[in-house]
Amino acid sequence: MRYRRMPIEEESPEQLGYGRIRHNLAESSVADASLSDLGADLGGLVLQYGDHLGLPALRELVAADGVGLAPDDVLVTPGAVAALFIVHTTLLEAGSHAIVARPNYATNVETPRAVGADVEYLDLAFEDGWAVDPERIAAMLRPETRLVSLTTPHNPTGATLSRETLDAVIALVERHGGARLLLDETYREMTFGDPLPVAASLGDRVISVTSLSKTYGLPGIRVGWLVTRDRELLGRFLAAKEQILISGSLVDETIALRALELRPTWLPEIRGRIAEAFSITSSWIDGNPRFEWVPPRGGVVGFPRIRPGIAAGLNVDAFYDALFERHGTIVGPGHWFEQPRTSFRLGYGWPTLDELRGGLAALAAALDEVRGS
Ligand SMILES: Cc1ncc(COP(=O)(O)O)c(C=O)c1O
Repeated sequence: MRYRRMPIEEESPEQLGYGRIRHNLAESSVADASLSDLGADLGGLVLQYGDHLGLPALRELVAADGVGLAPDDVLVTPGAVAALFIVHTTLLEAGSHAIVARPNYATNVETPRAVGADVEYLDLAFEDGWAVDPERIAAMLRPETRLVSLTTPHNPTGATLSRETLDAVIALVERHGGARLLLDETYREMTFGDPLPVAASLGDRVISVTSLSKTYGLPGIRVGWLVTRDRELLGRFLAAKEQILISGSLVDETIALRALELRPTWLPEIRGRIAEAFSITSSWIDGNPRFEWVPPRGGVVGFPRIRPGIAAGLNVDAFYDALFERHGTIVGPGHWFEQPRTSFRLGYGWPTLDELRGGLAALAAALDEVRGS
């Protein structure tokens, strides 16, 4: 494995220091919840090793989300990131062919690379509305392809796959027989409108990955999971988990269970807050023609860019410097996603609405200051 730190982690708000940031528009989750929001009573918890697949009651609730899924189709992991690591290192080895959407959540790109896989990028484009074209995937598939990796709702753009596209890609991997579809569904419950089904419920060659970090604002418990109906494969994923961890943290998984139990009341509230923040952000973009984006269809991030005519000749480093040094504002610059730095991920779901408004105003002001200088 060839590990290398990723800019998105090196430059993350928690590494920079939350205390130094006034308007944090760099996050990809809703505001972080606290233990007291959950009312979890952990006093009597016996701190033993847990079920190696994950807390059974938690897996039951997860499985209930997909038609025909069983608790034993679920492997609980410390965050979605660990699920992704397990999938990549189980399915890929040096030289394996993998088709990976780009831009993407950085780990989805970097871990196959660290394995030494032969990664071929499915480059998505602003001009296409960040859409995934199954015909392009069909043309990229080779006999030795092991993995097709997509994310929906997408990080960093907030674009979503249509049901037709998802079905078409699943049909491709089923027909291929050697490849699997990894679908990162970490933002699934934040889809505007009805979410797609849990993709693993639609085919045996599909692996769904998600967590509680983003929708529920619980990244401080490290709980996510992967789901697949292929039990032989799940056994291999379990073996990987056991070699790293044996079992997950019972403390974390008990808190996670409590969060999922609260979901029926909690989720509508969360979705309401996201809708409000999205509306503020959308109006701001509409009123600031120097920025443009493909309107997100889910999640809490979008990937606007400074309009090309304005971006040409702009000192983009000076823009980010002004944004942080003068306005205490951060966003996720394009290089976190191997994209031009004139694009940036804008996380609108994490800050308070006042902080959000302040951060949006700061973006416009920083651009003015740099263009005027
Ligand atoms: C699309 C996506 N997948 C996975 C993760 C990993 O999150 P966690 O490990 O906290 O669940 C992230 C975090 O930003 C993400 O955006």
